Amino acid sequence: MARIRISELLNNGANFLGEKIEIKGWVRAFRSKRFVQLNDGSCMANIQGVIDFEKFEEAALRPISTGAAVCLKGILVESQGSGQAVELQVESFEIIGSADPDEIQKTILQPKKHSLDLLREQAHLRFRTNTFGAVFRIRHAASFAIHKFFNERGFNYIHTPILTGSDAEGAGEMFRVSTLDPKNPPLDDEGNVDYSKDFFGKQVNLTVSGQLEAELAALGLGQVYTFGPTFRAENSNTSRHLAEFWMIEPEVAFNDLFDNMDLTEAFLKYIGTYILDNCGEDLSFLDQRYTQEQSQKPQNERSHLGLIESIQFITNNDFKRLTYTEAIDVLRNSKAYKKKRFEFPVEWGTDLQSEHERYLVEKEFKCPVILRDYPSGIKAFYMRQNDDGKTVAAMDVLFPGIGEIVGGSQREERLDVLKSKCKDFNIDEKELWWYMETRKFGTVPHAGFGMGFERLVMFLTGMSNIRDVIPFPRARDNAEF
Ligand code: 4AD
Ligand code: MG
Repeated sequence: MARIRISELLNNGANFLGEKIEIKGWVRAFRSKRFVQLNDGSCMANIQGVIDFEKFEEAALRPISTGAAVCLKGILVESQGSGQAVELQVESFEIIGSADPDEIQKTILQPKKHSLDLLREQAHLRFRTNTFGAVFRIRHAASFAIHKFFNERGFNYIHTPILTGSDAEGAGEMFRVSTLDPKNPPLDDEGNVDYSKDFFGKQVNLTVSGQLEAELAALGLGQVYTFGPTFRAENSNTSRHLAEFWMIEPEVAFNDLFDNMDLTEAFLKYIGTYILDNCGEDLSFLDQRYTQEQSQKPQNERSHLGLIESIQFITNNDFKRLTYTEAIDVLRNSKAYKKKRFEFPVEWGTDLQSEHERYLVEKEFKCPVILRDYPSGIKAFYMRQNDDGKTVAAMDVLFPGIGEIVGGSQREERLDVLKSKCKDFNIDEKELWWYMETRKFGTVPHAGFGMGFERLVMFLTGMSNIRDVIPFPRARDNAEF
Protein backbone atom coordinates (compact mmCIF):
# COMPACT_ATOMS: atom_id res chain seq x y z
CA MET A 1 0.00 0.00 0.00
CA ALA A 2 1.39 3.38 -0.93
CA ARG A 3 1.92 5.98 1.75
CA ILE A 4 -0.10 9.14 1.11
CA ARG A 5 1.05 12.52 2.35
CA ILE A 6 -1.45 14.43 4.46
CA SER A 7 -1.37 17.53 2.24
CA GLU A 8 -2.41 15.33 -0.68
CA LEU A 9 -5.30 13.85 1.33
CA LEU A 10 -6.57 17.22 2.47
CA ASN A 11 -6.28 18.85 -0.95
CA ASN A 12 -7.66 15.96 -2.99
CA GLY A 13 -9.63 14.07 -0.35
CA ALA A 14 -12.40 13.20 -2.78
CA ASN A 15 -10.00 11.06 -4.82
CA PHE A 16 -9.34 8.83 -1.85
CA LEU A 17 -12.79 8.61 -0.19
CA GLY A 18 -13.69 5.01 0.56
CA GLU A 19 -10.18 3.86 -0.33
CA LYS A 20 -7.90 1.92 1.92
CA ILE A 21 -4.82 4.04 2.52
CA GLU A 22 -1.75 4.32 4.68
CA ILE A 23 -0.35 7.41 6.36
CA LYS A 24 2.77 7.90 8.44
CA GLY A 25 3.58 10.76 10.74
CA TRP A 26 4.05 11.98 14.31
CA VAL A 27 1.29 12.02 16.91
CA ARG A 28 0.36 15.54 17.95
CA ALA A 29 -2.39 14.43 20.31
CA PHE A 30 -4.39 11.33 21.24
CA ARG A 31 -7.75 11.96 22.89
CA SER A 32 -10.21 9.61 24.57
CA LYS A 33 -8.21 6.60 23.36
CA ARG A 34 -10.03 7.18 20.10
CA PHE A 35 -8.94 10.31 18.18
CA VAL A 36 -5.37 10.57 17.06
CA GLN A 37 -4.06 13.72 15.41
CA LEU A 38 -1.24 12.96 13.02
CA ASN A 39 1.10 15.41 11.30
CA ASP A 40 3.68 14.52 8.67
CA GLY A 41 5.12 17.98 7.96
CA SER A 42 3.60 18.20 4.49
CA CYS A 43 1.22 20.92 5.69
CA MET A 44 0.01 22.72 8.78
CA ALA A 45 -3.12 20.58 9.22
CA ASN A 46 -3.23 17.23 10.93
CA ILE A 47 -5.26 14.29 9.79
CA GLN A 48 -7.55 12.71 12.32
CA GLY A 49 -7.42 8.96 12.73
CA VAL A 50 -10.38 7.38 14.50
CA ILE A 51 -9.54 4.22 16.39
CA ASP A 52 -12.19 1.80 17.55
CA PHE A 53 -10.63 1.14 20.92
CA GLU A 54 -12.76 -1.91 21.61
CA LYS A 55 -10.90 -3.66 18.83
CA PHE A 56 -7.51 -3.18 20.45
CA GLU A 57 -5.89 -4.12 23.76
CA GLU A 58 -5.34 -1.21 26.13
CA ALA A 59 -1.59 -2.01 26.16
CA ALA A 60 -1.42 -1.88 22.38
CA LEU A 61 -2.88 1.65 22.36
CA ARG A 62 -0.56 3.00 25.04
CA PRO A 63 2.42 3.75 22.76
CA ILE A 64 0.23 6.06 20.64
CA SER A 65 1.43 9.05 22.60
CA THR A 66 2.42 12.61 21.75
CA GLY A 67 5.62 12.67 19.72
CA ALA A 68 5.55 9.01 18.68
CA ALA A 69 5.90 8.11 15.01
CA VAL A 70 3.13 5.85 13.78
CA CYS A 71 1.72 4.30 10.66
CA LEU A 72 -2.07 4.26 10.36
CA LYS A 73 -3.91 2.08 7.86
CA GLY A 74 -7.59 2.36 7.19
CA ILE A 75 -10.40 3.78 5.08
CA LEU A 76 -10.73 7.48 4.33
CA VAL A 77 -14.24 8.69 5.11
CA GLU A 78 -16.07 11.98 5.36
CA SER A 79 -15.63 13.22 8.88
CA GLN A 80 -18.48 12.90 11.39
CA GLY A 81 -17.11 15.66 13.56
CA SER A 82 -16.43 19.28 12.85
CA GLY A 83 -12.97 20.67 12.20
CA GLN A 84 -12.00 18.39 9.33
CA ALA A 85 -13.57 17.32 6.05
CA VAL A 86 -12.14 13.82 6.01
CA GLU A 87 -10.76 11.40 8.57
CA LEU A 88 -9.23 7.96 8.62
CA GLN A 89 -11.15 5.03 10.06
CA VAL A 90 -8.21 3.14 11.44
CA GLU A 91 -8.17 -0.62 10.83
CA SER A 92 -4.63 -1.28 11.94
CA PHE A 93 -1.68 0.68 13.15
CA GLU A 94 1.98 0.24 13.79
CA ILE A 95 4.32 2.14 16.14
CA ILE A 96 7.37 3.14 14.11
CA GLY A 97 9.18 5.03 16.86
CA SER A 98 7.80 5.43 20.37
CA ALA A 99 8.22 8.52 22.56
CA ASP A 100 8.45 8.21 26.34
CA PRO A 101 5.68 10.43 27.79
CA ASP A 102 7.78 11.35 30.85
CA GLU A 103 10.71 12.44 28.70
CA ILE A 104 8.44 14.33 26.29
CA GLN A 105 7.23 16.44 29.24
CA LYS A 106 10.66 18.04 29.35
CA THR A 107 10.63 19.03 25.69
CA ILE A 108 8.88 21.51 23.47
CA LEU A 109 6.92 18.61 21.95
CA GLN A 110 4.69 18.77 25.00
CA PRO A 111 1.61 20.43 23.45
CA LYS A 112 1.41 23.84 25.11
CA LYS A 113 2.73 27.33 24.46
CA HIS A 114 6.53 27.56 24.67
CA SER A 115 8.71 30.64 24.45
CA LEU A 116 10.71 31.20 21.28
CA ASP A 117 13.85 31.14 23.45
CA LEU A 118 13.08 27.63 24.61
CA LEU A 119 12.20 26.54 21.07
CA ARG A 120 15.60 27.86 19.94
CA GLU A 121 17.35 25.79 22.61
CA GLN A 122 15.58 22.76 21.19
CA ALA A 123 16.06 23.64 17.55
CA HIS A 124 16.44 19.93 16.77
CA LEU A 125 12.78 19.42 17.70
CA ARG A 126 11.19 22.72 16.72
CA PHE A 127 10.52 21.55 13.13
CA ARG A 128 7.63 19.61 14.64
CA THR A 129 5.81 22.67 15.92
CA ASN A 130 3.13 24.52 13.96
CA THR A 131 5.09 27.78 13.95
CA PHE A 132 8.35 26.35 12.67
CA GLY A 133 6.66 23.99 10.24
CA ALA A 134 5.06 27.09 8.69
CA VAL A 135 8.27 29.15 8.79
CA PHE A 136 10.37 26.51 7.07
CA ARG A 137 7.77 25.67 4.44
CA ILE A 138 7.62 29.39 3.60
CA ARG A 139 11.42 29.58 3.59
CA HIS A 140 11.43 26.79 1.02
CA ALA A 141 8.73 28.43 -1.09
CA ALA A 142 10.61 31.76 -1.08
CA SER A 143 13.81 30.08 -2.17
CA PHE A 144 11.94 28.31 -4.99
CA ALA A 145 10.28 31.59 -6.06
CA ILE A 146 13.69 33.26 -6.25
CA HIS A 147 15.08 30.63 -8.62
CA LYS A 148 11.85 30.76 -10.61
CA PHE A 149 12.02 34.55 -10.97
CA PHE A 150 15.57 34.51 -12.28
CA ASN A 151 15.03 31.50 -14.50
CA GLU A 152 12.02 33.15 -16.15
CA ARG A 153 14.18 36.19 -16.87
CA GLY A 154 17.08 34.26 -18.33
CA PHE A 155 19.57 34.62 -15.48
CA ASN A 156 22.23 31.96 -14.87
CA TYR A 157 22.72 30.62 -11.35
CA ILE A 158 26.42 30.89 -10.51
CA HIS A 159 28.08 29.07 -7.63
CA THR A 160 30.71 31.42 -6.27
CA PRO A 161 33.44 30.19 -3.90
CA ILE A 162 32.95 29.96 -0.16
CA LEU A 163 36.69 29.97 0.51
CA THR A 164 38.30 33.15 -0.72
CA GLY A 165 41.33 35.36 -0.22
CA SER A 166 39.48 38.63 -0.71
CA ASP A 167 37.34 40.79 1.56
CA ALA A 168 34.69 42.01 -0.87
CA GLU A 169 33.01 44.44 1.50
CA GLY A 170 36.29 45.67 2.98
CA ALA A 171 34.92 45.59 6.52
CA GLY A 172 37.49 43.08 7.79
CA GLU A 173 34.83 40.95 9.45
CA MET A 174 36.00 37.57 8.25
CA PHE A 175 36.40 34.07 9.64
CA ARG A 176 39.87 32.80 8.86
CA VAL A 177 40.26 29.29 7.44
CA SER A 178 43.58 27.63 8.19
CA THR A 179 45.14 24.22 8.68
CA LEU A 180 48.15 25.59 10.54
CA ASP A 181 48.80 24.31 14.06
CA PRO A 182 47.38 27.11 16.26
CA LYS A 183 49.82 26.21 19.04
CA ASN A 184 52.88 26.32 16.88
CA PRO A 185 52.34 28.22 13.62
CA PRO A 186 55.26 28.90 11.25
CA LEU A 187 56.52 32.46 11.66
CA ASP A 188 58.19 34.82 9.17
CA ASP A 189 61.29 36.91 9.85
CA GLU A 190 59.19 39.56 11.60
CA GLY A 191 57.53 37.05 13.88
CA ASN A 192 54.15 37.14 12.13
CA VAL A 193 52.29 33.95 11.19
CA ASP A 194 53.63 32.84 7.81
CA TYR A 195 50.49 32.08 5.80
CA SER A 196 52.55 31.18 2.75
CA LYS A 197 53.00 27.85 4.58
CA ASP A 198 49.24 27.47 5.07
CA PHE A 199 47.05 25.11 3.01
CA PHE A 200 46.37 27.55 0.18
CA GLY A 201 49.76 29.29 0.38
CA LYS A 202 47.99 32.48 1.46
CA GLN A 203 45.54 33.79 3.98
CA VAL A 204 42.05 32.53 3.22
CA ASN A 205 38.67 33.21 4.81
CA LEU A 206 34.99 32.36 4.50
CA THR A 207 33.37 34.65 1.97
CA VAL A 208 31.34 37.70 3.04
CA SER A 209 29.79 38.03 -0.44
CA GLY A 210 29.84 36.34 -3.84
CA GLN A 211 29.61 39.66 -5.64
CA LEU A 212 33.12 40.11 -7.01
CA GLU A 213 33.04 36.69 -8.65
CA ALA A 214 29.44 37.24 -9.81
CA GLU A 215 30.63 40.40 -11.58
CA LEU A 216 33.22 38.37 -13.49
CA ALA A 217 30.51 35.95 -14.57
CA ALA A 218 28.07 38.72 -15.55
CA LEU A 219 30.74 40.26 -17.75
CA GLY A 220 30.50 37.19 -19.97
CA LEU A 221 27.16 35.56 -19.34
CA GLY A 222 25.31 38.89 -19.22
CA GLN A 223 23.06 38.27 -16.24
CA VAL A 224 23.73 35.95 -13.34
CA TYR A 225 22.81 35.48 -9.70
CA THR A 226 24.29 33.73 -6.71
CA PHE A 227 22.37 32.16 -3.84
CA GLY A 228 24.70 30.88 -1.20
CA PRO A 229 25.94 31.06 2.35
CA THR A 230 27.96 34.09 3.47
CA PHE A 231 29.79 34.62 6.72
CA ARG A 232 30.42 37.71 8.80
CA ALA A 233 32.26 37.92 12.09
CA GLU A 234 30.31 41.04 13.02
CA ASN A 235 30.07 41.78 16.67
CA SER A 236 26.50 42.98 16.35
CA ASN A 237 24.46 40.61 18.46
CA THR A 238 21.08 41.86 17.21
CA SER A 239 17.81 40.28 16.16
CA ARG A 240 18.68 41.05 12.51
CA HIS A 241 22.27 39.78 12.24
CA LEU A 242 23.67 36.28 11.84
CA ALA A 243 27.29 35.14 11.52
CA GLU A 244 26.19 32.72 8.77
CA PHE A 245 23.41 33.83 6.46
CA TRP A 246 22.25 33.19 2.92
CA MET A 247 22.48 35.89 0.32
CA ILE A 248 21.05 36.29 -3.17
CA GLU A 249 23.21 38.47 -5.43
CA PRO A 250 22.12 39.19 -9.00
CA GLU A 251 24.53 40.99 -11.30
CA VAL A 252 23.62 42.41 -14.72
CA ALA A 253 25.90 43.72 -17.47
CA PHE A 254 24.76 47.03 -19.07
CA ASN A 255 22.40 47.86 -16.15
CA ASP A 256 22.68 51.19 -14.38
CA LEU A 257 21.48 52.09 -10.90
CA PHE A 258 17.92 52.78 -12.09
CA ASP A 259 17.65 49.45 -13.90
CA ASN A 260 18.96 47.92 -10.70
CA MET A 261 16.21 49.54 -8.63
CA ASP A 262 13.57 48.33 -11.10
CA LEU A 263 14.96 44.79 -10.90
CA THR A 264 14.97 44.83 -7.10
CA GLU A 265 11.41 46.08 -6.90
CA ALA A 266 10.13 43.54 -9.42
CA PHE A 267 12.03 40.79 -7.60
CA LEU A 268 10.61 41.59 -4.15
CA LYS A 269 7.08 41.93 -5.54
CA TYR A 270 7.35 38.61 -7.38
CA ILE A 271 8.39 36.74 -4.24
CA GLY A 272 5.62 38.39 -2.19
CA THR A 273 3.02 37.44 -4.79
CA TYR A 274 4.30 33.88 -4.98
CA ILE A 275 4.05 33.44 -1.22
CA LEU A 276 0.55 34.97 -1.09
CA ASP A 277 -0.57 32.65 -3.88
CA ASN A 278 1.02 29.45 -2.62
CA CYS A 279 1.34 29.51 1.17
CA GLY A 280 -2.17 30.51 2.30
CA GLU A 281 -2.58 28.03 5.14
CA ASP A 282 0.84 28.70 6.68
CA LEU A 283 0.44 32.45 6.20
CA SER A 284 -2.90 32.64 7.95
CA PHE A 285 -1.49 30.75 10.90
CA LEU A 286 1.50 33.10 11.11
CA ASP A 287 -0.76 36.10 10.54
CA GLN A 288 -2.72 35.22 13.70
CA ARG A 289 0.49 34.67 15.61
CA TYR A 290 1.84 38.01 14.41
CA THR A 291 -1.32 39.90 15.34
CA GLN A 292 -1.23 38.41 18.81
CA GLU A 293 2.44 39.32 19.23
CA GLN A 294 1.76 42.87 18.05
CA SER A 295 -1.09 43.27 20.54
CA GLN A 296 1.38 42.73 23.37
CA LYS A 297 3.59 45.61 22.23
CA PRO A 298 3.22 49.22 23.35
CA GLN A 299 0.77 51.11 21.11
CA ASN A 300 3.40 53.22 19.31
CA GLU A 301 5.52 50.20 18.35
CA ARG A 302 2.66 48.19 16.88
CA SER A 303 2.44 47.60 13.17
CA HIS A 304 -0.82 48.97 11.78
CA LEU A 305 -0.91 46.13 9.25
CA GLY A 306 -1.29 42.38 9.73
CA LEU A 307 1.25 40.00 8.22
CA ILE A 308 -0.70 39.24 5.04
CA GLU A 309 -1.58 42.92 4.69
CA SER A 310 2.12 43.86 4.94
CA ILE A 311 3.01 41.47 2.12
CA GLN A 312 0.09 42.76 0.02
CA PHE A 313 1.26 46.25 0.76
CA ILE A 314 4.64 45.50 -0.83
CA THR A 315 3.15 43.76 -3.85
CA ASN A 316 0.57 46.51 -4.49
CA ASN A 317 2.51 49.72 -3.89
CA ASP A 318 5.34 51.46 -5.66
CA PHE A 319 8.45 51.80 -3.56
CA LYS A 320 9.32 55.37 -2.62
CA ARG A 321 12.65 56.41 -4.16
CA LEU A 322 14.84 59.24 -2.91
CA THR A 323 18.48 60.13 -2.42
CA TYR A 324 20.42 59.76 0.79
CA THR A 325 20.80 63.56 0.87
CA GLU A 326 17.02 64.05 0.61
CA ALA A 327 16.52 61.47 3.36
CA ILE A 328 18.88 63.36 5.66
CA ASP A 329 16.77 66.49 5.09
CA VAL A 330 13.56 64.61 5.82
CA LEU A 331 15.04 63.22 9.02
CA ARG A 332 16.42 66.55 10.22
CA ASN A 333 13.06 68.22 9.63
CA SER A 334 11.15 65.47 11.41
CA LYS A 335 9.39 65.89 14.75
CA ALA A 336 11.35 62.94 16.08
CA TYR A 337 14.61 64.77 15.36
CA LYS A 338 13.44 68.06 16.79
CA LYS A 339 12.20 66.35 19.92
CA LYS A 340 15.57 64.55 20.18
CA ARG A 341 13.97 61.13 19.92
CA PHE A 342 16.81 59.64 17.85
CA GLU A 343 19.60 58.04 19.80
CA PHE A 344 22.18 58.52 17.00
CA PRO A 345 23.09 61.77 15.21
CA VAL A 346 21.66 62.58 11.76
CA GLU A 347 24.61 64.09 9.93
CA TRP A 348 25.36 64.09 6.19
CA GLY A 349 28.23 61.63 5.70
CA THR A 350 27.39 59.22 8.50
CA ASP A 351 25.63 55.90 8.07
CA LEU A 352 21.90 55.83 8.79
CA GLN A 353 21.06 53.78 11.84
CA SER A 354 18.21 51.31 12.01
CA GLU A 355 16.10 53.85 13.96
CA HIS A 356 16.42 56.34 11.07
CA GLU A 357 15.64 53.76 8.41
CA ARG A 358 12.60 52.58 10.29
CA TYR A 359 11.42 56.13 10.81
CA LEU A 360 11.51 56.78 7.05
CA VAL A 361 9.64 53.58 6.21
CA GLU A 362 7.20 53.29 9.08
CA LYS A 363 6.47 56.89 10.03
CA GLU A 364 7.34 59.23 7.17
CA PHE A 365 6.54 57.41 3.90
CA LYS A 366 4.64 54.39 5.23
CA CYS A 367 5.87 52.27 2.32
CA PRO A 368 9.07 50.49 1.25
CA VAL A 369 11.81 52.99 0.49
CA ILE A 370 14.81 52.86 -1.86
CA LEU A 371 17.56 55.26 -0.89
CA ARG A 372 20.34 55.98 -3.39
CA ASP A 373 23.50 58.01 -3.91
CA TYR A 374 25.20 57.56 -0.56
CA PRO A 375 28.38 59.38 0.53
CA SER A 376 31.34 57.44 -0.88
CA GLY A 377 33.07 57.26 2.50
CA ILE A 378 30.46 54.96 4.05
CA LYS A 379 30.11 52.52 1.15
CA ALA A 380 32.34 49.83 -0.43
CA PHE A 381 35.25 50.51 -2.82
CA TYR A 382 33.58 48.94 -5.86
CA MET A 383 30.61 51.34 -6.06
CA ARG A 384 30.53 53.75 -8.98
CA GLN A 385 31.63 57.30 -8.23
CA ASN A 386 28.96 59.89 -9.11
CA ASP A 387 29.83 63.10 -10.99
CA ASP A 388 29.41 65.20 -7.83
CA GLY A 389 32.64 63.61 -6.54
CA LYS A 390 31.01 63.07 -3.13
CA THR A 391 28.53 60.26 -3.58
CA VAL A 392 28.40 56.78 -5.13
CA ALA A 393 25.68 55.02 -7.14
CA ALA A 394 24.59 52.89 -4.18
CA MET A 395 21.09 51.88 -3.15
CA ASP A 396 19.53 50.34 -0.06
CA VAL A 397 15.99 49.01 0.09
CA LEU A 398 14.32 49.58 3.45
CA PHE A 399 11.34 47.50 4.59
CA PRO A 400 8.86 47.96 7.43
CA GLY A 401 9.88 46.12 10.58
CA ILE A 402 13.18 45.04 9.04
CA GLY A 403 15.11 48.12 7.93
CA GLU A 404 17.70 47.29 5.26
CA ILE A 405 16.67 44.21 3.30
CA VAL A 406 18.70 44.85 0.13
CA GLY A 407 21.98 46.64 -0.53
CA GLY A 408 23.27 47.19 -4.04
CA SER A 409 25.00 49.51 -6.47
CA GLN A 410 26.16 50.28 -9.95
CA ARG A 411 29.78 49.12 -10.06
CA GLU A 412 32.83 51.22 -10.90
CA GLU A 413 33.68 50.13 -14.43
CA ARG A 414 36.39 52.78 -15.13
CA LEU A 415 39.83 51.33 -14.43
CA ASP A 416 41.49 54.61 -13.44
CA VAL A 417 38.70 55.52 -11.00
CA LEU A 418 38.71 52.00 -9.56
CA LYS A 419 42.47 52.16 -9.04
CA SER A 420 42.25 55.41 -7.15
CA LYS A 421 39.34 53.98 -5.07
CA CYS A 422 41.55 51.02 -4.13
CA LYS A 423 44.19 53.48 -2.95
CA ASP A 424 41.64 55.44 -0.87
CA PHE A 425 40.37 52.26 0.72
CA ASN A 426 43.83 50.78 1.33
CA ILE A 427 43.10 47.82 -0.92
CA ASP A 428 46.02 46.11 -2.62
CA GLU A 429 44.95 46.09 -6.27
CA LYS A 430 47.50 43.35 -6.98
CA GLU A 431 45.49 41.00 -4.77
CA LEU A 432 42.46 41.83 -6.95
CA TRP A 433 44.33 41.64 -10.28
CA TRP A 434 41.61 39.44 -11.77
CA TYR A 435 38.88 41.93 -10.84
CA MET A 436 40.89 44.82 -12.28
CA GLU A 437 41.47 42.96 -15.57
CA THR A 438 37.74 42.88 -16.35
CA ARG A 439 37.96 46.69 -16.47
CA LYS A 440 40.70 46.43 -19.07
CA PHE A 441 39.03 44.09 -21.54
CA GLY A 442 35.65 45.29 -22.76
CA THR A 443 34.54 46.93 -19.54
CA VAL A 444 30.84 47.90 -19.38
CA PRO A 445 28.52 49.57 -16.89
CA HIS A 446 26.95 46.93 -14.69
CA ALA A 447 24.97 46.73 -11.48
CA GLY A 448 23.66 44.30 -8.91
CA PHE A 449 22.41 43.91 -5.39
CA GLY A 450 22.47 41.59 -2.42
CA MET A 451 19.45 40.48 -0.45
CA GLY A 452 19.83 38.78 2.91
CA PHE A 453 17.58 35.76 2.56
CA GLU A 454 16.80 35.55 6.28
CA ARG A 455 15.76 39.22 6.37
CA LEU A 456 13.28 38.39 3.59
CA VAL A 457 11.97 35.33 5.44
CA MET A 458 11.51 37.48 8.57
CA PHE A 459 9.36 39.81 6.52
CA LEU A 460 7.35 36.98 4.96
CA THR A 461 6.70 35.14 8.22
CA GLY A 462 6.45 38.05 10.67
CA MET A 463 9.06 36.45 12.92
CA SER A 464 10.88 39.19 14.79
CA ASN A 465 14.16 37.41 15.51
CA ILE A 466 16.37 36.33 12.61
CA ARG A 467 17.38 33.23 14.60
CA ASP A 468 13.86 31.93 14.14
CA VAL A 469 13.90 31.84 10.33
CA ILE A 470 17.07 29.77 9.76
CA PRO A 471 17.07 26.15 10.89
CA PHE A 472 20.28 26.32 12.92
CA PRO A 473 21.38 29.89 13.62
CA ARG A 474 25.04 30.78 13.96
CA ALA A 475 25.68 33.92 15.96
CA ARG A 476 28.14 35.14 18.58
CA ASP A 477 28.60 32.36 21.21
CA ASN A 478 26.15 30.17 19.38
CA ALA A 479 27.00 27.24 17.10
CA GLU A 480 24.97 24.42 18.66
CA PHE A 481 23.61 21.61 16.48
O1 4AD B 1 24.69 45.46 2.19
P1 4AD B 1 25.54 44.24 2.09
O2 4AD B 1 26.74 44.16 2.97
O3 4AD B 1 25.95 44.14 0.55
C1 4AD B 1 26.78 43.22 -0.01
O4 4AD B 1 27.27 42.27 0.56
C2 4AD B 1 26.97 43.42 -1.49
N1 4AD B 1 28.09 42.60 -1.93
C3 4AD B 1 25.70 43.08 -2.22
C4 4AD B 1 25.79 43.25 -3.71
O5 4AD B 1 25.71 44.37 -4.17
N2 4AD B 1 25.95 42.18 -4.46
O6 4AD B 1 24.66 42.96 2.36
C5 4AD B 1 23.52 42.69 1.57
C6 4AD B 1 22.34 42.27 2.42
C7 4AD B 1 21.89 43.31 3.43
O7 4AD B 1 21.05 44.26 2.81
C8 4AD B 1 21.15 42.46 4.44
O8 4AD B 1 19.85 42.12 3.97
C9 4AD B 1 21.97 41.19 4.43
O9 4AD B 1 22.70 41.14 3.22
N3 4AD B 1 22.92 41.10 5.56
C10 4AD B 1 22.77 40.29 6.62
N4 4AD B 1 21.79 39.42 6.95
C11 4AD B 1 21.93 38.74 8.09
N5 4AD B 1 22.97 38.85 8.93
C12 4AD B 1 23.99 39.71 8.66
N6 4AD B 1 25.03 39.78 9.47
C13 4AD B 1 23.90 40.48 7.45
N7 4AD B 1 24.70 41.39 6.85
C14 4AD B 1 24.09 41.75 5.72
MG1 MG C 1 24.41 47.14 3.28
